[in-house]
Amino acid sequence: MTDLLGDMRRTHNCCDLTTAQVGQEVVLMGWVQTRRDHGGVIFVDLRDRTGIAQVVFSPEVNTEVHEKAHAVRSEFVLGIRGTVAARPDDMINDKMVTGAIEVNVDELRILNRAVTPPFAVEDDIEVGENIRLKNRHIDLRRPRYQKNIIARHQATQAVRGYLNSKGFLDIETPFLTKSTPEGARDYLVPSRVNQGLFYALPQSPQLFKQLLMMSGFDRYYQIVKCFRDEDLRADRQPEFTQIDMELSFVGEEEIMAIAEGMVSKVFKDVLGVDVKAPFEHLLYADAMDRYGLDKPDLRFDMELKDVSSIVETSGFKVFADVVKKGGMVKALNAKGCIDFSRKEIDDLTKFVSIYRAKGLAWIKVKENEWQSPIAKFFTDDEKKALAERIGMEPGDLIFFVADQPKVVNESLGNLRNHLAEKLGLINKDEFRFVWVTHFPLFEYDETEKRYQSLHHPFTAPLEEDYQHIETDPLKLRSRAYDLVLNGSEIGGGSIRIHDRAIQERMFSALGMDKEEYEEKFGFLLDALESGAPPHGGIAFGLDRLVMILCGMPSIRDVIAFPKTQKASCMLTDAPSEAGTAQLNELALRIKKIES
Ligand code: AMO
Ligand code: AMP
Repeated sequence: MTDLLGDMRRTHNCCDLTTAQVGQEVVLMGWVQTRRDHGGVIFVDLRDRTGIAQVVFSPEVNTEVHEKAHAVRSEFVLGIRGTVAARPDDMINDKMVTGAIEVNVDELRILNRAVTPPFAVEDDIEVGENIRLKNRHIDLRRPRYQKNIIARHQATQAVRGYLNSKGFLDIETPFLTKSTPEGARDYLVPSRVNQGLFYALPQSPQLFKQLLMMSGFDRYYQIVKCFRDEDLRADRQPEFTQIDMELSFVGEEEIMAIAEGMVSKVFKDVLGVDVKAPFEHLLYADAMDRYGLDKPDLRFDMELKDVSSIVETSGFKVFADVVKKGGMVKALNAKGCIDFSRKEIDDLTKFVSIYRAKGLAWIKVKENEWQSPIAKFFTDDEKKALAERIGMEPGDLIFFVADQPKVVNESLGNLRNHLAEKLGLINKDEFRFVWVTHFPLFEYDETEKRYQSLHHPFTAPLEEDYQHIETDPLKLRSRAYDLVLNGSEIGGGSIRIHDRAIQERMFSALGMDKEEYEEKFGFLLDALESGAPPHGGIAFGLDRLVMILCGMPSIRDVIAFPKTQKASCMLTDAPSEAGTAQLNELALRIKKIES
């Protein structure tokens, strides 16, 4: 049996209580964090979303209530009425917000019992993620998650406040829609009333927000779920939230200024941190050259150095051959790391092999010589040139990767991040923003043997590059920009094509014939010739932004009900099988394919 709430009503949250309320009668509601029976007196730490207050059951205050408190266990839900008292001096707990007071209870209602929780409701527990996600409603009671979810709310409030003040309209766009290409697979939803036909859940509201510009709603935003069936990682979920916006009659500068203002407001409101705007800019080509990644972490130096021209003619065949075949050789200087063991170097070699590097050559720089398996292949002149280009000093450990640019950049770019983490070079309190701009419009997909958009096919190329659309698509530079924070891409956007003819040429360059692009995007093409204003926008990954604000390692830590690496929900067991009746209604039959 549980007590009813009856007429008992909460007067305060647990952490509202201070010495200012001493002598006052209060009513608290919450969960039992701990119960300590000290012989005559029972102490309960009562928890609500604001934190913990100590409530005391003493026979001297009320014998009946004290007796009843014996039944109380962890995670029971209580309502208590009592009087706030100052704690004796030797009982004051400076670590608790409410550490100077306690509540002497005169009325107790056990609003509900609880079975023993599968893990303690505390931050520092060693429990597998699957168990936590299966019991997410309990997991979310832990202080860290309470804090994260509240920070997320504060972030969205800051975003709404800022964008509303800048004249943006919050407009919803459909979830049951047609494919919106953002480079991932679609989640499909079968239609019952149109048998054999499917909706796609939006990968982003991209097409609809562009249409809204054509409708005259010249500043749009939405905090919106997006759905992408892609391989999951710590910073990717199959459904995630974007802060999506679009503006008409603007260029890159206005969009960036709005984005910077919005991000600054979020940091101020959630963390009380002043962010320095405007943010730094970096050309995509420079980012790749110096850091190997299009989302460089600028909190530390350690730049990559291209040594291709020096090693091309050297006696080290591995390097020379790669350069002759159109590849490159780059070096990374791990300063002062000469004492790395063989095992550490082997582990790093294994690390870069994830990015398909075929090896990791190294040099330990000593006072008058190099210790290295490859030193013998270089002439004195080559050694001198390498030392100069790489900035070698005694005590340094230099790493090299030779391969096609994609492999070299990816492996050394990620090695750079990995080493910085290992060597403790990262100031975790720093927030380093950078705009990466002038991305190529297309990349060539070797497996599919065709060009692909780096962002999406609606991004405008620089006007002076139009001439290359048919002849040399890889030369096209785009008007796209990403916002990178501490090595994480938190937002991306572009100026869009607002001319039908250019958009059609772009679809053709992507290998679509007229029939295909008319079928997929005819509605957009028609809209583009119905009076489309120049427009552009950006979308932020809310989950990633909040993850960084909260200092969390994964976006799963800032999403109330996230999915696992296999895109399933441990709590509800989704996805699950559909019943025969439902499948029949949808005219679907399941065919299991042996893999
Ligand atoms: P883009 O695809 O770059 O651009 O997405 C914008 C931002 O959304 C976040 N993001 C994700 N977060 C979590 N899980 C995912 N699977 C995931 N995928 C993307 C990233 C990213 O920077 N329509 C364009 C925007 C535009 O051009 O205005 C778009 O969706 O932080
Ligand atoms: P090998 O001559 O194959 O024994 O290689 C000598 C050194 O060069 C070893 O340390 C390898 O890890 C390294 N190495 C081999 N291939 C590459 C490559 N493509 N890039 C960088 N280092 C390599």
